[in-house]
Amino acid sequence: MGWKRKLSDGYDKVGLAAGLQDDWTGTGGYAEVGIIKGRKLSYDYQKFDEEGNPESTVRAVDAVDLDVETGDFVAILGHNGSGKSTLAKHINAILLPTEGTLYVDGKDTQDESKLWEIRQTAGMVFQNPDNQIIGTIVDEDVGFGPENLGVPCDEIWKRVEESLKAVGMWEYRAHSPNKLSGGQKQRVAIAGVVAMRPKCIVLDEPTAMLDPNGRKEVICTVRELNRRAHVTVLLITHYMEEVIEADKVLVMDQGKVVMQGTPKEIFSHVEELKSYRLDVPQATLVAYELQKKGVGLPDGILSMKELAEELEKLRS
Ligand SMILES: Nc1ncnc2c1ncn2[C@@H]1O[C@H](COP(=O)(O)OP(=O)(O)O)[C@@H](O)[C@H]1O
Ligand SMILES: [Mg+2]
Repeated sequence: MGWKRKLSDGYDKVGLAAGLQDDWTGTGGYAEVGIIKGRKLSYDYQKFDEEGNPESTVRAVDAVDLDVETGDFVAILGHNGSGKSTLAKHINAILLPTEGTLYVDGKDTQDESKLWEIRQTAGMVFQNPDNQIIGTIVDEDVGFGPENLGVPCDEIWKRVEESLKAVGMWEYRAHSPNKLSGGQKQRVAIAGVVAMRPKCIVLDEPTAMLDPNGRKEVICTVRELNRRAHVTVLLITHYMEEVIEADKVLVMDQGKVVMQGTPKEIFSHVEELKSYRLDVPQATLVAYELQKKGVGLPDGILSMKELAEELEKLRS
């Protein structure tokens, strides 16, 4: 591993600066729009009987139209089994539509000749960081992705540095991933994806296995990648507080996208969300209950701070 040696040589020169470099611009362009475009996208899982004959099908994604603009931070909510993971797996062509189409950065995911480009455009981060980290040293692990892409050695080392700094894990570059906390491991997994310079990152419940601190670390990292490096983010999550930061929220139920809007718009519909077996942020719920008791609060309050401000206004 030639690039590995080079990486070690560079340690002294770069020091221990953690976090994003100001000049790191990532990969998402400003001018492009519509990085993800799905039309009537459906996916059926086949069920087979004991002899291996097709028995029945489950429609996991049902005629979904999906539009994500370059640079957007989109959160996807939905009860278990609503089709979120199935939809996510289409974005880097792990699954191909049974019906309908999906274009990622202008490329049809069903076009086999574009498979590598699509996989490079859209990186995936999954729930369990232990299944995503293969290296025995943090920097090595982050280098695997670009190495597999055939990136030249000098370039790999640059990317490893840039990616680890972007997730605030540069200080841990020489550590063994085993010794890291869940949140740190997940940030390394994200760095591994960032090192491939995807325009878009799809995170499928990346915080589900983390403690509250780990969750915060990961969400902050993702938000920074989005805001500072303009990486398009699709975040699938169960945690309502993680949705508040998004530009746009999609709600899925039984394979369909049933609600779309800004967090404020989405959380203005508490009863509808409940009907899809979803929670709302705590502040939203308190505000909603107060509204029902006749307190004149606006819809879609998202944080305790906002709630306190609105209550203060009512007093004066
Ligand atoms: N590999 C599979 N084989 C058969 N059915 C599946 C498979 N994976 C998921 N499903 C079914 O597809 C539907 C959507 O699942 P999934 O996309 O995992 O939802 P979510 O991520 O929202 O929990 C569910 O009914 C689930 O049981
Ligand atoms: Mg899932």
